[in-house]
Amino acid sequence: MKLTLNVWRQSGPNAPGKMVRYEMPNVNEHMSFLEMLDVLNEGLIGKGEEPITFEHDCREGICGSCGFMINGKAHGGFPKTTVCQLHMRHFKEGDELYLEPWRAKAFPVVKDLMVDRSSFDRIIQAGGYISVNSGVTIDGNAIPVSKSSSDRAMDAAQCIGCGACVASCPNASASLFTSAKIAHLNLLPQGQPEKLERALNMVTVMNEEMFGSCTNLQECEATCPKAISIENIAIMNRHYVEAALSNRPPNTEVGAG
Ligand code: SF4
Ligand code: FES
Repeated sequence: MKLTLNVWRQSGPNAPGKMVRYEMPNVNEHMSFLEMLDVLNEGLIGKGEEPITFEHDCREGICGSCGFMINGKAHGGFPKTTVCQLHMRHFKEGDELYLEPWRAKAFPVVKDLMVDRSSFDRIIQAGGYISVNSGVTIDGNAIPVSKSSSDRAMDAAQCIGCGACVASCPNASASLFTSAKIAHLNLLPQGQPEKLERALNMVTVMNEEMFGSCTNLQECEATCPKAISIENIAIMNRHYVEAALSNRPPNTEVGAG
């Protein structure tokens, strides 16, 4: 099939960017979206032009590296689908597509379709761990976990840190990501001792990183390729308020717990 791509090209974080048009005359419907970009890049390299920079790793929908906007929708807007798992059969002859990087102040553009998501790393560093000696495997299995807590924690743990929730939110809020990282530990027995510090410290860093506030628009949940529920935001807010009411100061040094 024949497609026209309009791709955001930006040579560096402070360089001006612009849309560049590419004609793709022979797109195979069995290609993934990233394979289609690989073909485009091979052609650009063959002509001595700079290939399009985009992030990827597993190409199996599990690492969270990939992601950009396709026609204004994060990952293309297909349910529970990362852009690496999106196949060209979803498009039709003559389609014109617009590819842009995530747009958020906390995600500065590195180059073309690639953004710097290290702000997510800093949120996780503020509390995405438990600082107890968890012992050997048998000790871990000896702690009873209710089916309900286990299911909800594992659902939250599916977050791959792709950033689509931020890119889709009109406020560029990171509440869905942060709440998933908080909830997947706070719902388990092993996460209880640091529950309130975790919520306080991770939300504090989220705010320091200049993400916007959540106003419950729910675009994040609608666009998340792992169907992370906004129930996690309610859990995060409850634990954050509990921590704030206990008058404990946030401690956002790495490993502070
Ligand atoms: S909550 Fe969903 S959209 Fe946001 S980073 Fe995690 S997997 Fe990606
Ligand atoms: S490349 Fe790993 S999730 Fe897409």
